[in-house]
Amino acid sequence: MIDFKKFEKYSRPGPRYTSYPTALEFHENFSTDDLVAKLKNTDSTTPISLYVHLPFCRSACYFCGCNVLFTSKQEKKTRYLGYLKKELKLIANHIDTSRRVTQLHFGGGTPTFFSPSELGEVYDAIYEIFVNFDATAEISCEVDPRFFSVEHMEVMKKANLNRLSFGVQDLDEKVQKTVHRIQPFETTQNVVNIARDAGINSINIDLIYGLPHQTASSFATTLQQIIKLNPDRLAVFNYAHVPWLMKTQRKFDETTFAPPSTKLVILQDTIKFFETAGYRMVGMDHFAKPDDELFKAIDKGELHRNFQGYTTKGGAQLVGVGVTSIGDGDDYFVQNHKNLADYEKAIDSGVLPVFKGYQLNEDDKIRKYVIMELMSNFSLDKKAVEQKFDIKFDTYFSQAVKHLQEFVEAGLVSVDDSQIKTTATGSMLIRNIAMCFDIYFWDKAPDKQRFSKTI
Ligand SMILES: C[S@@+](CC[C@H](N)C(=O)[O-])C[C@H]1O[C@@H](n2cnc3c(N)ncnc32)[C@H](O)[C@@H]1O
Ligand code: SF4
Repeated sequence: MIDFKKFEKYSRPGPRYTSYPTALEFHENFSTDDLVAKLKNTDSTTPISLYVHLPFCRSACYFCGCNVLFTSKQEKKTRYLGYLKKELKLIANHIDTSRRVTQLHFGGGTPTFFSPSELGEVYDAIYEIFVNFDATAEISCEVDPRFFSVEHMEVMKKANLNRLSFGVQDLDEKVQKTVHRIQPFETTQNVVNIARDAGINSINIDLIYGLPHQTASSFATTLQQIIKLNPDRLAVFNYAHVPWLMKTQRKFDETTFAPPSTKLVILQDTIKFFETAGYRMVGMDHFAKPDDELFKAIDKGELHRNFQGYTTKGGAQLVGVGVTSIGDGDDYFVQNHKNLADYEKAIDSGVLPVFKGYQLNEDDKIRKYVIMELMSNFSLDKKAVEQKFDIKFDTYFSQAVKHLQEFVEAGLVSVDDSQIKTTATGSMLIRNIAMCFDIYFWDKAPDKQRFSKTI
């Protein structure tokens, strides 16, 4: 048994590194013209990955940290679809729409809060513009099992969706009541059956640990039930508690949260549970079966991290559509307006609804590579970094190597001339280890930062 109490000191605010630099560095000097230039000038052989944000939900799950708009008004949803279609047309003016598309992902909010026919309209609008989808393209959607029907599935099948991700979070009644999300096991079982009957053979389930009233034993019970559904992948997220950003999270009594040492026990038990069941841990919070692409990507060195978490489709230009959506190119990030009125205003005046963005400099590119390697593979080939960027690793990263020393001494990381590698326990603290290489983090009083805690 590991005494996780001694690692509680690492429970610090820190990024999840779905991007480097993090979204906190994005600024408003990155303009619509900058994005237009990026879309126009990207090499025509670079594949496109599309992300479409459908932000609406009926009611709030109190833990939610996503960009969501709560509504029960149909007019709002209809209006949004109109703007989404207009935005797609604006994008089409600036990008070569005959470029290969390797990924299309619908996220939210709750995309299936739209009716099947509304979703069908969105699919048609996309396929009218982007005409060159790879035969192996991943076409996926986030689904709240409480808002999903056979009719949704039919429309999705027609539009070639091949991956579905179901939000579950936790099955314990007391936890569900506290987080304001009542979702009996049977509801999830039913939608998983609908998806399987329709021939979807990539099913993901989202869970969260660290929610109020969860214990190691209650979460173990959730896992035992969930495994009966035989998911191909799971995302087991560390609850990101950011009450200064998310009002509904303020409803929680913080004394009902498990302490960091218990959260580490839960994570370790979860890893053991899924490994025993034949899954493999992928990155810091995913698990996949041996025949899943994410699993295979680890050995092939093809696992990448982006705004959607972990992906096998690296090297694509991520084009975001919809309010708050994020785009990600080789050397830039861009985010659409978060405020619906601003988003609509931009589109009404015929311009792409850019809110903020970021142009990476040379140092950012090196650190982005290092941090994403660590976050994906729990190891880093120092020689490969030296060759790729023409630097002397230990000299260039002398400050980072100093920060890393604490983790080396704690037996969480090994460092030699050629590589950096985390131990099994170190992998559970990968955010802390990656933070050593983040120049913005150290420049700005690390413990005062406004990120969720790493444990
Ligand atoms: C957009 S939601 C998924 C689709 C659908 N809205 C649902 O909830 O079923 C994306 C996922 O983010 C995760 N999530 C949301 N808020 C979170 C938080 N504060 N910390 C960690 N994970 C969170 C949940 O696991 C959720 O399933
Ligand atoms: S977790 Fe999903 S359903 Fe719940 S509020 Fe967030 S986006 Fe909506």
